[in-house]
Amino acid sequence: MLVHGAESRQLTPLDYVSTMALLTISGNDTTRNTITGGLYVLSQNPAQFARLRADRSLIKTAVSERLRWVTPVLHIRRTAKRGILFQGKQIREGDRVVLWYVSGNRDESVYSAPKTFRIDRNERRHLSFGSGIHFCVGARLAEMQLQILWEELLNRFPLIEVLGPPLRLRSNFIHGIKSLSVRLCV
Ligand code: HEM
Repeated sequence: MLVHGAESRQLTPLDYVSTMALLTISGNDTTRNTITGGLYVLSQNPAQFARLRADRSLIKTAVSERLRWVTPVLHIRRTAKRGILFQGKQIREGDRVVLWYVSGNRDESVYSAPKTFRIDRNERRHLSFGSGIHFCVGARLAEMQLQILWEELLNRFPLIEVLGPPLRLRSNFIHGIKSLSVRLCV
């Protein structure tokens, strides 16, 4: 669409490059941190890891649970377009509101035992891709990438050992891992 779409012809070179940067950055930081964060939580739950290895039909729900667990984008800040009374709190037009997806993903009224990591969890969709008109454009692509990556990883490496705790990114926006040592056993 960016190359051939009628609208994209009206983009200035800067708009075009900015859009490419947006797609590259939003698709990269998020997906790779879901991979490392997901591997780390699996290593801390070896019984779940073994179950996933034995039953590949769980990959889909396991991807969704890792997205919920990791919540790669911790929050987004939006500006209220109109006033609203929300759960007893008055939000006025123009107020800046922070949506903590990481908190919503651990809402006890939505998820049973939200602080437990369960690869077969099949409850309401997590909030890691946001919601509303800004819902992540790449959500389906990211889910597909994560699914294929895990199928191939498990096919190639019967054992993936995490050798120590991750070195975490210092950020309240991206839930990121800077490095995680692993041993891949063939
Ligand atoms: C695990 C992977 C990903 C996560 C967790 C993620 C998360 C998010 C979140 C939280 C938002 C904001 C939603 C909101 O404000 O309601 C967003 C928007 C966006 N994402 Fe993703 N994303 C992922 C992968 C991708 C990929 C692969 C692409 C593109 C190749 C992408 C492109 C975008 C774009 C362009 C937006 C802005 C949409 C808009 O403002 O209308 N994302 N994403």
